[in-house]
Amino acid sequence: MAEVNSALKRAGTGPDPAPFGRFRDVRQSFARPGQAPLHAIEAVSFDLERGKLVSLLGPSGCGKTTLLKIVAGLMRATAGVVQIEGVDVTEPQPEFGVVFQTANLMPWRSVLRNVLLPIEIRRDTGGAARAAALELLSLVGLAGFEHARPAELSGGMQQRVALCRALVHKPRLLLMDEPFGSLDELTRMEMQDLLLDIRARTGATVLFVTHSISEAVYLSDRVVVFSRRPATIADMIDVPLPYPRTPELRYCATFTEIGHRAGRALGVSR
Ligand SMILES: Nc1ncnc2c1ncn2[C@@H]1O[C@H](COP(=O)(O)OP(=O)(O)OP(=O)(O)O)[C@@H](O)[C@H]1O
Ligand SMILES: [Mg+2]
Repeated sequence: MAEVNSALKRAGTGPDPAPFGRFRDVRQSFARPGQAPLHAIEAVSFDLERGKLVSLLGPSGCGKTTLLKIVAGLMRATAGVVQIEGVDVTEPQPEFGVVFQTANLMPWRSVLRNVLLPIEIRRDTGGAARAAALELLSLVGLAGFEHARPAELSGGMQQRVALCRALVHKPRLLLMDEPFGSLDELTRMEMQDLLLDIRARTGATVLFVTHSISEAVYLSDRVVVFSRRPATIADMIDVPLPYPRTPELRYCATFTEIGHRAGRALGVSR
């Protein structure tokens, strides 16, 4: 019977509605001239449910950016299944929003024209996009800086522009690779609240890479903890804290317990 059930599931007729994002046995290795291949990711499987914020937490060099690049379609996995909304990701996906660790703004463009870049790429010239960009800039506290150049902004302000650029075309999926890693603690906490606020307004599904335990716990519905390279899943932790998350939650017992559990999975606490 179990065999029949699993066969039905495989055929797509069983009670297994496809999750928003589906990762099965994802592997990635890189050829190295004169050396054995480098195994970056080893059999990673998890689901990403629609509207959820899932963090990938793991030590430096374990394969987090590699997995995010695979999801963005910027790199093909060596093996395994990577599907978003039931479709295999095989090429770059401009529909997704992507934020990297550094803002990567175009220095010769104004703040507003940087935010509008994804819209220009789509050749969507309607005024609605400009209104959406201005609204986002205002939401992140950058009203009045629309016409400034990136060099006139602080690092945190530039990262807020990058966030607006990733959101302006209303992506269903937001991929974020340590987007707040270079920010000071205070700005980082503000950006975390901002991200949660935007997520609540837009309903976007978010895959968020970090190596900060507290950041992962504070933001996430679920934390996927990666082992050292080659990355396997060391633990998968659901965070039962309510949204909206408030700064006081950082001091509650559940927050500490989950942080501990993630620390144990990472091998940094007992
Ligand atoms: N294009 C590539 N060619 C060869 N090796 C690569 C390539 N990209 C990544 N790697 C290797 O894969 C491993 C994982 O790299 P990745 O950038 O995914 O790590 P990470 O978890 O994002 O680390 P960090 O937290 O430091 O950003 C590293 O050992 C890296 O050297
Ligand atoms: Mg990385």
